[in-house]
Amino acid sequence: MQLRTVSQLLSQEITLPEVEVKGWVRTFRANRFIALNDGSTLNNIQCVVDFENTDQAILKRITTGAALHIKGELVESQGKGQNVEINVSSIEILGDSDAETFPIQPKKHSFEFLRENAHLRTRTNTFGAVMRLRSSLSFAIHKYFNENGFYYMHAPIITGSDAEGAGEMFRVTNLDAKNPPLNDEGEVDFSKDFFGKETNLTVSGQLEAETYAMSLGKVYTFGPTFRAENSNTSRHLAEFWMIEPEVAFMDLAGNMDLAEDFMKSVIAYVLENNREDLEFLDKRLQDEEKTKPQAERSDMSLIEKLKFVTENNFKRVSYTEAIDILRNSKPNKKKKFKYIINKWGADLQSEHERFLVEKHFKCPVILFDYPANIKAFYMRLNEDGKTVRAMDILFPGIGEIVGGSQREERLEVLKEKMKALDIDEEELWWYLDLRKYGTAVHSGFGLGFERLVMFATGMGNIRDVIPFPRTPQNAEF
Ligand code: 4AD
Ligand code: MG
Repeated sequence: MQLRTVSQLLSQEITLPEVEVKGWVRTFRANRFIALNDGSTLNNIQCVVDFENTDQAILKRITTGAALHIKGELVESQGKGQNVEINVSSIEILGDSDAETFPIQPKKHSFEFLRENAHLRTRTNTFGAVMRLRSSLSFAIHKYFNENGFYYMHAPIITGSDAEGAGEMFRVTNLDAKNPPLNDEGEVDFSKDFFGKETNLTVSGQLEAETYAMSLGKVYTFGPTFRAENSNTSRHLAEFWMIEPEVAFMDLAGNMDLAEDFMKSVIAYVLENNREDLEFLDKRLQDEEKTKPQAERSDMSLIEKLKFVTENNFKRVSYTEAIDILRNSKPNKKKKFKYIINKWGADLQSEHERFLVEKHFKCPVILFDYPANIKAFYMRLNEDGKTVRAMDILFPGIGEIVGGSQREERLEVLKEKMKALDIDEEELWWYLDLRKYGTAVHSGFGLGFERLVMFATGMGNIRDVIPFPRTPQNAEF
């Protein structure tokens, strides 16, 4: 007898005299119907127990959450909702589950409650679907780059540099926090540290990826990144996964083309391969929408939103044009934004981004050519001397999903910028070397993986699209 997954069994067209399956009990009804799930699909297989001929002691142990090994005959189902079911001939209890204390009861739980039980929440349909989609998206990303001639590069997790220059880093040290060695000035002496200098968890693999682009041509990273920004929002994590392609001889226009093609391709992949889970999440979202006032309801379903992205061009708009649009807009009843932009050079708040994407253009937007003073040191300065070749992609319901740029490839200009921002040349000597030895135009971007998963699943909180979220005051698991 061959062990099969629930997914394999449910797709059987024919009956089979003997099948075998292992999984966890979702429900056990009327001492007769076990709904068994093994994670291979959203759906459960119904296992029909012969009540009279089954040991009472075993029946008592078929409780929600218990792990079972079931053998039986796969037959056409009499009930509705499934084509096949198993007439059980033997049940082995692999692991008991105390029905009184098992947190995942067969009822609707709040996402807050499930977050507190993140170790068990993938036993629910919603989290099973979300995490299967997360896995698929991750595969689609590798597939896209593999098919387009990119090499997968592993950027270091522990680094000595601050790629974004934002100072939002988690320090890595093996010094005794309570009693660190001090230097003559009374400061912590990091020369005594394991690495002999200050180090931190990476905020971005970009600078290292640039070194590989300037030798292997087309590369990408896909790894964990860490930011100690104390923003307790539904879109920020302290530990998140980022995809960072970096390409030699590619300018900003090429970067936008790549990002758009890439985003469309990975979303098309899940539309094609994760239909069942998407339809389930779509239904969940529609139920949620019904609880909102009419005016706030989305006029598109989840699947329609995903299709829309794959079928329509992203709107490309310069920062300067966007500011003009915002200045001339009256977004709500009070006819103004909470943060009014009246000065060229100000950074956009998320309310501005959402207005542009959701109200004005009603499609994904690529904003480019930002003021130099609000962007990182490594971005290519434009001829106007005040804007840089930066681009952000804004998605409906998400806001910024991608941030990227053409990089400053001119040694002297880069040095000037670093000086202005007080960035030590000695710290980044290796980065400057790229501009000394065969420098060339190159570009790349970073996609926040969890923001993509939020978009593709319709989940509203970033804590619900990563297995064990890390946020301020929270690293329970
Ligand atoms: O815009 P960011 O900071 O850009 C960079 O890090 C560049 N080095 C990327 C590059 O050009 N190679 O971050 C890129 C993306 C954001 O657009 C956002 O989607 C995501 O990373 N992101 C976060 N996601 C979750 N939690 C956070 N705290 C995030 N910070 C950024
Ligand atoms: Mg950004």
